[in-house]
Amino acid sequence: MADNQVIACGSWNPAQSPPQQSKTSRGSCLAALPAHGVMQLMNKILAKKTVADSTSLFIVEAPEISRKAQPGQFVILRLVEEGERFPLTIADFDRDAGTITLVSLSIGASTMLLETLKEGDVILDVAGPLGKPTDIENVGTVVCVGGGVGIAAIHPVARAFKQAGNRVISIIGAKTKSKLLWEDKMAQASTELIVTTDDGTVGRQGFVTQRLQEIIDSGTKIGIVFAVGPTIMMKMVAKVTQPYAIKTIVSLNPVMIDGTGMCGGCRVQVGGQQKFTCVDGPDFDAHQVDFDLLLSRLSAYRDEEHAAKCRCHEK
Ligand code: NAD
Ligand code: FES
Repeated sequence: MADNQVIACGSWNPAQSPPQQSKTSRGSCLAALPAHGVMQLMNKILAKKTVADSTSLFIVEAPEISRKAQPGQFVILRLVEEGERFPLTIADFDRDAGTITLVSLSIGASTMLLETLKEGDVILDVAGPLGKPTDIENVGTVVCVGGGVGIAAIHPVARAFKQAGNRVISIIGAKTKSKLLWEDKMAQASTELIVTTDDGTVGRQGFVTQRLQEIIDSGTKIGIVFAVGPTIMMKMVAKVTQPYAIKTIVSLNPVMIDGTGMCGGCRVQVGGQQKFTCVDGPDFDAHQVDFDLLLSRLSAYRDEEHAAKCRCHEK
C-alpha cells in the first residue's frame, strides 16, 4: 500500500485474500455494523440525502482520507465482514471538516445495501484514497463530460481544471430530469455548463456526445476532453474526439476487489498492454483503451450481480 493511503476503521487489510463476491445481505450488514462506541469515530455517515432517482449522497467522516484526497481518486468500501468490496469515486472532500462525499447509484447488491444505511451509521471499511490523482494541467480549454452518476465523479476534476486557470466547458447528461444531479455544483465548478437529457425533460435533448461534437464543429480549440460515466458513453466520447486527435482521458470503473494491483480484478487493456485500473489508473488515454474488451468483461459479471440483487431483495 502506498504511503498516502489509509484504511479507516475496519479490520480489512487489502493484502488479505479477497472474500467471495456478491455475498452481501441487508441483514448481515446491519448485524455487522459496530455498536455505538469507539468505531463510530470514523467512517460515520454524517449526512445522507437523495440527489437524484435511486442516487444518494453520503458525507462520511474520514479525516485521514480527506486530508490526502486529490481529484480523480476513489475509495473502496466494504459494508459487511464477508461482503464484496466496491469502489466509489471521491466526489468531494472537505479537509477542514475531515469529510469525504460519496455519491452512489443503487444499481447492484452492494450499492443497494449502502442505500439501507442512514445518518449516524458507520461504514465498516473505507480504504483510500486509491488510484493516481488526475493530471491537472493548464491547456486553455478543457471539456468535462459527465454521464449519470459519473457527474459526481467528474465534479472535483472540473473544479481543479478551473482552479488551474482553464476555461472549463462541462457537458452533463442523464436519461431524464429526475436522474440529473449536481447541476448547481457543476455550474460552479465550470466556466460554462451544458445540460442534456436523453428525453429532453431538462436541457438539450440527446446524448452528451452530440453536444461535444457541436463544440468541436464550432471550431473551439480543446486542450483536453475528460469523461466519466457509463463505459459505453466513454467509448463514444473517444470515438468523437479520435478523428481530431484531441487528448481524451477517461476514468474507468471496472470491478475492483483489493485495490492494490494484486487480485487482477480491475485489469484493462490500454495501448495493447495490461493495466490495473486501481494502481495504474483510474485515468487512461481514451484512444488507447480497449473498450470492447472492458464492456465484455463487465457483462460477464451481470448474471452474478443479478443473482446477488435478488438475494438482497429477498432479505
Ligand atoms: P446513464 O445510462 O443514464 O447515461 C448517462 C448519460 O451518458 C446519458 O444521458 C447519455 O448522455 C450518455 N450516454 C449513455 N449511453 C450513451 C451512448 N451510447 N452514446 C453516447 N452517450 C451515451 O448513466 P447511469 O445510469 O447513471 O450509469 C452511470 C454509469 O457510470 C454506471 O454504470 C457506473 O458504473 C458508471 N460510473 C463510472 C464512474 C467512473 O469512474 N468511470 C463513476 C461513477 C459511475
Ligand atoms: Fe485488484 Fe485492481 S482491484 S488489481
